[in-house]
Amino acid sequence: MNLAVIGSGYVGLVAGACLAELGHIVTLVDNDTTKINALTGGDVPIHERFLPELIARNTSAGRLSFSGSIADAVQNSSVIFIAVGTPPMDSGAPDLSYVEAVAAAVAAHVGDYKIVVEKSTVPVLTHQQIHKVMMLNGAPLDSVDIVSNPEFLREGTAVSDFLYPDRIVVGSDSQRAAAALREVYEPLTSGSYYRRTDALPGPLGFPGSARLLITSAKGAELIKHASNSFLAMKISFINAVANICEVVGADIDEVGQGIGTDSRIGVRFLRPGVGYGGSCFGKDLLAFRQVAHECGLELGLLDEVIKVNEEQKCRFVRKVRTALWTLRGKRIAALGLAFKGGTDDIRESPAIAIIQALQQEGAQIAVHDPAAMDGAKAILGSSVVYASSAYEACRGAHALLVLTDWQEFAELDLVEIRSALRHPIVIDGRNIFRCEDMRAAGFHYYSVGRPTVDIGKGQHKPGGALDASVPFKAYAKRQ
Ligand code: UDX
Repeated sequence: MNLAVIGSGYVGLVAGACLAELGHIVTLVDNDTTKINALTGGDVPIHERFLPELIARNTSAGRLSFSGSIADAVQNSSVIFIAVGTPPMDSGAPDLSYVEAVAAAVAAHVGDYKIVVEKSTVPVLTHQQIHKVMMLNGAPLDSVDIVSNPEFLREGTAVSDFLYPDRIVVGSDSQRAAAALREVYEPLTSGSYYRRTDALPGPLGFPGSARLLITSAKGAELIKHASNSFLAMKISFINAVANICEVVGADIDEVGQGIGTDSRIGVRFLRPGVGYGGSCFGKDLLAFRQVAHECGLELGLLDEVIKVNEEQKCRFVRKVRTALWTLRGKRIAALGLAFKGGTDDIRESPAIAIIQALQQEGAQIAVHDPAAMDGAKAILGSSVVYASSAYEACRGAHALLVLTDWQEFAELDLVEIRSALRHPIVIDGRNIFRCEDMRAAGFHYYSVGRPTVDIGKGQHKPGGALDASVPFKAYAKRQ
């Protein structure tokens, strides 16, 4: 099929490349000519596993091209995916002006029947507004159907999530449009893609075909907001439980496993940490709360999810104070800037917020991130030292903080880390190390929801985050 994807951000770029991978002819459109030129020249603007290979092989096969012209793309395509940004406004409602502008521009070039697909995350009933705008801007009557086809990909595993989805949701009030979308995804739903010898690898245990759910357009719009809100709620829930574990000296690893192995709950998205970040959860929770408000309903549950998430970052900063006492003049190594491992994205990253909070208290920070340092420079500028490796960041530091769950951080040589640090203190906001290993390596080790490892006492000590003076005193006594 001939498809157009408008917007070459995270979702648009990944969706465009993956749709071409399924065998479709895809034109990816963006009004940022610098970006289009870079993509045409083979540059991939985001750090995403498999994406460069996918773009290279589908452009050279002639299935993927980049353009600045909505007109050409619309005229040559039967299905047009809108994947432009929907940033939050002050009210929490998303700014849909880019979606509206694209819908109006597409309308001007609609001749024969076209299907317009919402890929951007939008509030319920947006499909009606898109239809209205298209009619107002010259699309012939009955020439367009609007479909909601939300994208559930996660950054870092975006390509694999697209090609090996838990489910594909198509919200369409038109049977004709639903049939066309079935055809778009046929290589995944029939499993023919997975049988190809050149198929990209997927997760272990993936069934032989992807599941397709056909719903109403408004149902699909709600599914996206509700899914992200539920996932964020799971994270805030486990963080709240982890905080109780810290107070009573229980271990969140045991507790989380006990909760998650109930098949009604599930173990995924129950990892405690410094709170969720990224471009979606924060924005989508505010948007969903606003949707409820406009329906005359209050989703106070989401207020609590947001509150726990904000508090989790403050709690981590308190933990740093507990470990180091005063922060003015202290040199701190911070591992991780991205909002999670596997991506260079720093949007709404808890790591950045925590670093800025520590700087306000006078700490000097040396940072290292395998992919996000260039992006972070736009925010942190020269206020931090950008270290070329984790070991370099640790050199002479009073403590090491882990702020992003990069796999390479979990594989660091603890002996080398210990010898690089001025003091053997590690405060791990992502629980990437095992307490036993940290004790064996001789660290004071603070993590989330697990007993503090206090080498002064030679055993695990509960409640490390609560008493600001004890760990420091214990440490000072040994000097
Ligand atoms: C999310 C949704 O998962 C995805 O379906 C949607 O399309 C876009 O938003 P993404 O933001 O890329 O994806 O990342 P995700 O893996 O969901 O993580 C979001 C944040 O939650 C990260 O900061 C991550 O570190 C944090 N997180 C995730 C936890 O703290 N604990 C967990 O158990 C899982």
